[in-house]
Amino acid sequence: MLKIIKFSELEAGSEITAIGSCENINEFCGEKKYFALEKRARELEEFKGEEDKTIVFYSPENINAKKMVVCGFGKKENISSESYRRFASNAVKQALSLKASSLDIIIPDFNKADSDKIESFKAICEGAYLSNYSFNEYKSKKEEQPLKEIRIPVLDENIEEFKKIADQTEKICSCVFFARNIVSTPPMDKRPEKLKNLLVDFASRSGLQTQVFDNAKLEELGFNSHLGVAKGSSEGAYLVIMEYTPKNYDETIALVGKGITFDSGGLDLKPPSGMEDMKLDMGGAAAVTGAAAALAKLGINKRIIAVVPIAENMISGDSYRPGDVLKSYLGKTIEVLNTDAEGRLILADALSYTEKLFNPDLIIDAATLTGACMVALGDKIAGVFTDREEIGSEIVKTGKKINEPCWMLPVFKDYAKKLKSSVADLKNIGGGRYGGAITAALFLKEFVEKTDYVHLDIAGPAFSQEAGHYTNKGGTGFGVRLITEYVMTRESR
Ligand code: BES
Ligand code: ZN
Ligand code: ZN
Repeated sequence: MLKIIKFSELEAGSEITAIGSCENINEFCGEKKYFALEKRARELEEFKGEEDKTIVFYSPENINAKKMVVCGFGKKENISSESYRRFASNAVKQALSLKASSLDIIIPDFNKADSDKIESFKAICEGAYLSNYSFNEYKSKKEEQPLKEIRIPVLDENIEEFKKIADQTEKICSCVFFARNIVSTPPMDKRPEKLKNLLVDFASRSGLQTQVFDNAKLEELGFNSHLGVAKGSSEGAYLVIMEYTPKNYDETIALVGKGITFDSGGLDLKPPSGMEDMKLDMGGAAAVTGAAAALAKLGINKRIIAVVPIAENMISGDSYRPGDVLKSYLGKTIEVLNTDAEGRLILADALSYTEKLFNPDLIIDAATLTGACMVALGDKIAGVFTDREEIGSEIVKTGKKINEPCWMLPVFKDYAKKLKSSVADLKNIGGGRYGGAITAALFLKEFVEKTDYVHLDIAGPAFSQEAGHYTNKGGTGFGVRLITEYVMTRESR
């Protein structure tokens, strides 16, 4: 969809060309031939280059484009790489609403250092690609058709380098689309067997080796905590293991993602308002599968293992009950005091198994784990929990850079006593109204014995109630870019 071209290729004409405009800089848009139009736009009453404002010119004079879109950047001092992402996304959204099939985006330039130029270019690629998306699988009338081509002209001497960056961005963002699609898919069409197939298909197409454990195999292995959750569903449990092993690698990173295909709450049934979006509860599975696929496509020199426990949290005569005690894969016994705290139960077994089998250098899990994390951080920010604070702060920094915001919350040991059970080794809820995201993280930590471990609670940002700059309503694909970028840029020990 992204096409990096030479400026000379623009001369053949353009359906829509987008340029940037800044509130307090003249000749910001980067190309001389558009300066006059940029100036004209800013002389209008209704447009001064304000952030997120756009204005369209039809058949502009002396420019070989049918339409021009001028997109505001706001004030110079507030421009960051995110401004470039939003610029490209505003341009794409404008082109989509004009029913265009292609768009040319001119990279603005105001004497930036070379490294900034690469960052801005990358941000433009991301913003453009991620906005050219809609989930209309289930609509009889497909209203919006994505643009077939987004062209970005660059200087002849940069073409090879920029093509490579665009290609990497496309690889990562196509995995974001995969994650969005499966999160937005209705729960009836991604029940455990189907979700398992969707993950395996995508992973194999992306160059990962896959392995699937079904109910019988999980029973044999002793995944009783995971199996307990699955009991209320007419479908079984699955564990999907995806693996990318390059010839040379310096470390092994394991990713574990919560794959609850629908969370009714179980016998501790959720109220209707809490249940309507619970197809989102495999957002962690989507994020780690997307990230593992992206890393494999990029051919990085780290071994990547993605492990996804899958189950549907439902109600039947066979459902697990509050009061039941489950013996986890690790051997620790868990008293179930709330069947709606099911994510941690399926993750517990997957985490211990991953640690034991693969002995990774780092485990990262992603899970739509707690409403409490949303109370703390709202619906756009993920919670980061880890004892390795330097890793946590790197992840927070990465999130800031790519605009998948994260914030570190404490793994406060004194709260661990809230998880003490009178009949088993642990109970699955902390009890009381407070600190639920932290007690959930402390619970998970019980199942990782010695490995560096980071837990990402993505309950808020995995799903959105409204469209954002380059996210739509529904599944956001949150976590794919975050994990991919963190792993790609991480220095091995
Ligand atoms: N899947 C939910 C968490 C969730 C809530 C994700 C809202 C996204 C939006 C999870 O399984 C859950 O139900 N957690 C409970 C835990 C409680 C019973 C200790 C919660 O957060 O209320
Ligand atoms: Zn739940
Ligand atoms: Zn859940």
